[in-house]
Amino acid sequence: MRITPWEVEGVVDYDRLIREFGIQPFSEILDRVPNPNRLMRRGVIFGHRDYDRIIDAMINKKPWAVMSGFMPSGLPHFGHKMTMDEIVWHQSMGGKAFVAIADMEAHAVRGLSWEKTKEIGMLYLKCIVALGLKPDNAILYFQSASRHVKDLAFELSAEVNWSELKAIYGFNPETTLARMFVTSIQAADILHPQLKDFGGPKPVVVPVGADQDPHLRLTRDLASRISIFSLERIDGGVRVRSRKGAEFLKKLKSLGFECKVYEEHIDFFGNPTEIEEEVRRVELELGGFAFIPPSSTYHRFTTGLTGGKMSSSKPESYISLFDDPEVGAKKVMKALTGGRVSAEEQRRLGGEPERCTVFELFTYHLITDDDELEEIRRDCKEGMLLCGCCKKRASELVRNFLKDLREKVESVDLEEYTIIG
Ligand code: TRP
Ligand code: SF4
Repeated sequence: MRITPWEVEGVVDYDRLIREFGIQPFSEILDRVPNPNRLMRRGVIFGHRDYDRIIDAMINKKPWAVMSGFMPSGLPHFGHKMTMDEIVWHQSMGGKAFVAIADMEAHAVRGLSWEKTKEIGMLYLKCIVALGLKPDNAILYFQSASRHVKDLAFELSAEVNWSELKAIYGFNPETTLARMFVTSIQAADILHPQLKDFGGPKPVVVPVGADQDPHLRLTRDLASRISIFSLERIDGGVRVRSRKGAEFLKKLKSLGFECKVYEEHIDFFGNPTEIEEEVRRVELELGGFAFIPPSSTYHRFTTGLTGGKMSSSKPESYISLFDDPEVGAKKVMKALTGGRVSAEEQRRLGGEPERCTVFELFTYHLITDDDELEEIRRDCKEGMLLCGCCKKRASELVRNFLKDLREKVESVDLEEYTIIG
């Protein structure tokens, strides 16, 4: 298994991702999420970092945001739809939505012209709007057009050196400076919703595929490196350190909490949320960023319809959201299933929904009702359902979905939206 932000190879072992990278299993917090969406309930979103912060903000109606980005290198497909659905859902739960079109990344990594990234980027924006993003509480932007993102990226880049980049991303001496710099751009995408101009520090959740986790690890680290104070929960309170010098710690002594002062840090005792808010208030007064490390959720990869990974160079391996409904429906009919070699064998042994790209489509996108999905799984496993019939149902759903989406995309009015681009 090899997973980097630019390629995914081999069979993905999600448990191993959880064990090795310190991603937390989503199942442990599912009970606390108000009204979890279908991707959460079905384990498609399998992991998270610090999602508790988001749950708390949702429940206590404090400001929070959701942000993710799309590289406009090819047409949006069902893999992108998953992230779009997640952004839309979080917005509906009260989060402010930030949607990045990663045109700088597409230009630096894939060599696309700015005209092309603009053209394709607009299609992504139309799609997410057609999928339900509301104009209020949303900021859609192109990286190249956001002064906030570019300025913050430069600031952040001062905290990152070559050996760190090499260790995280596997860069080599031939890697261009632009390609390295877009890692800072992505960190800035993630942190800029917390700038003063966007309402200041707040929890931000970034829904992504697990391949983007290196960016999140770096960004979470940068959030505390670039801020004056870094905070860590301890028994009964919060430990505060400052990388910017001990004199900053002195500014905290007058906070009204019980505390113990050490040479390198101060331990405050009391309600941790209140302590953290107070420390951040002081930092903002001192002109610091007071960034909260971003939270994240991780969804499973979308399997290519022909098996293996989805590839933009193999159009039959994915359904584009702009595919003609008939073409999309045909692709489903040719998709790799978890069926047996013959109908007779399938009746006897049952199918394997867990290895079936059609069942994956049902689970991720096409069937919203959990009982209905369970019925398909059971009938498949018991050999009551045969692939031909099942694929027909899926292809019908895909055809209708694509038709409906097409109509919605055509009637999208981006005028109502805040777009920086
Ligand atoms: N690098 C991401 C991709 O290849 C796109 C992206 C850009 C992004 N900025 C982001 C994702 C910020 C999450 C958050 O798909
Ligand atoms: Fe997949 Fe349906 Fe065939 Fe089962 S019956 S393997 S779910 S296509």
